[in-house]
Amino acid sequence: MSLPALNLPPVAGFDPDPARSHSLPSRHYVDPRIYAWEQEAIFARSWCYAGHLGQLREPGCYITCRVAGENVIVIRGKDGILRGFYNVCQHRAHELLKGSGRAKVITCPYHAWTYHADGRLRTARGSEGLPDFDKEKFCLKPVKVETMACFVFANLDPAAPSLAGLSGALESEIRAYCPEIDGLVLARTLTYDVAGNWKNSVDNFLECYHCHVAHSDFCDLVDMASYRSICHGIYSSHCGRSRQAESRAYRYSDGERARRFGSWWLWPNLCIEVFPGAPNVNIFHHVPVGPEQTRHVFEFYMQSPEPTPEQEDAIRYIDQVLQAEDIALVESVQRGLKSRGYDQGRFIVDADRTDMSEHAVHHFHALVVEAMARRREGA
Ligand code: FES
Ligand SMILES: [Fe+2]
Repeated sequence: MSLPALNLPPVAGFDPDPARSHSLPSRHYVDPRIYAWEQEAIFARSWCYAGHLGQLREPGCYITCRVAGENVIVIRGKDGILRGFYNVCQHRAHELLKGSGRAKVITCPYHAWTYHADGRLRTARGSEGLPDFDKEKFCLKPVKVETMACFVFANLDPAAPSLAGLSGALESEIRAYCPEIDGLVLARTLTYDVAGNWKNSVDNFLECYHCHVAHSDFCDLVDMASYRSICHGIYSSHCGRSRQAESRAYRYSDGERARRFGSWWLWPNLCIEVFPGAPNVNIFHHVPVGPEQTRHVFEFYMQSPEPTPEQEDAIRYIDQVLQAEDIALVESVQRGLKSRGYDQGRFIVDADRTDMSEHAVHHFHALVVEAMARRREGA
């Protein structure tokens, strides 16, 4: 499959200095050709969130996920190694696995070719008498897989540098906010269909300039004077201290470690958050569905599959208050991005990287611009 033909010019007004730079032009948030191009130039070359290690503990355990429009399997082999494959049979291309589960062998539902969990073709009914049938030529096609903390990522680019190298100190930062992370289990999943481009949704996550205006309960929960956004390589950290255990958002049992809010964005579209209170971590995945549609998928990991009453309150706050506020913002911006009366804006930034500063949005746009430049150079 080749990249859609699209000769994107360099972004006028974009500057490496966020204080001088314009934002991405509105066309980048609405044009179906740019959306298709991004699937290849960004998502097919990046480490994309696939799932949680909790579903992949034993040999034969598998999950399926979509990466850049491709259906991908992640499965643990008999040897304990986690591997990724395109979810397509090498006979006549039927899909092999659905959802998640555990399988001793991978059996195609069409004509029942079977594969080992390490991708080798095991049996092909009736192939015994065929001339020149070499099973080794019909192994499943591999996809790179790596883990970070207890999260699993897949990358379609065989030449991709390792996630561990690219993500630097991200794992240790998350572990510092949630040392219990390896013992947490899935307690709730929430999904939202948002009428906005995935970058519009990520932009909104990456700045808290709007927090004082749009999230009064969040500003009551987290002390904005302590909030800082720091950009590193392919991720950014957005952290602060909570103001008090009794906020308007929700109450939680107090304790020094509980009084912290940590959130991180990992290129291109994954956010991870640790809210104040008992040990927790949640995934906030901005899944592109179309040029102007994004699905928000939240996975809440806690110490028990049954959230405590205070954790139920926290989930309710995120679901009914914070998400409702942010989705309304993103959808309004998406309508504005289609207006003839708008093209590009500027970033408000400050040297202290405070809650007022939008430099992390610029950092994201710089990575998009870099991906465009790489493709122009044919890399
Ligand atoms: S397509 Fe899978 S066995 Fe035929
Ligand atoms: Fe927000």
